Amino acid sequence: MAKTKTAAKILIIHGPNLNMLGKREPEKYGSLTLEKINSDLKRQGKKLGLGVETFQSNQEGLIVEKIQKAMGACRGLIINPAAYTHTSVAIRDALLLLDMPIIEVHISNIYKRESFRHRSMVADVVTGQVSGLGPGGYGLALAAMAEMIN
Ligand code: DQA
Repeated sequence: MAKTKTAAKILIIHGPNLNMLGKREPEKYGSLTLEKINSDLKRQGKKLGLGVETFQSNQEGLIVEKIQKAMGACRGLIINPAAYTHTSVAIRDALLLLDMPIIEVHISNIYKRESFRHRSMVADVVTGQVSGLGPGGYGLALAAMAEMIN
């Protein structure tokens, strides 16, 4: 009997206020809802032979716990830490636990905005970063992830 290969799992984490996409500053973040972005990513994942799990939280500790649970359970992580990008040593430390490719995504170009957004606490611990390519940046990150893990 032919063995069925289980799809490699990729976790996509969205940080605070990203549940408000569609309503939140559409001139910066676009008009797509998080639900639509996530369903598109799941569809894209299927085509790439990847299982995509998505998670959003407005709470730093819950994001830390989700990252910890990815240890041994996922092959790659895509994360938009949103405002925690600029403040969270806890999320940075959690990412350091993971031995897998990690892609940091920002919908807007954080380097073109207020100076407090120019510093990412995670940029030097991730594999790569996508910033300023709109919601489509998640799909580009997923395609890059597929290349990296295959
Ligand atoms: C963001 C940029 C952050 O500075 C901001 O706090 C966000 C979203 C982005 O995707 O462009 O919430 O991460």
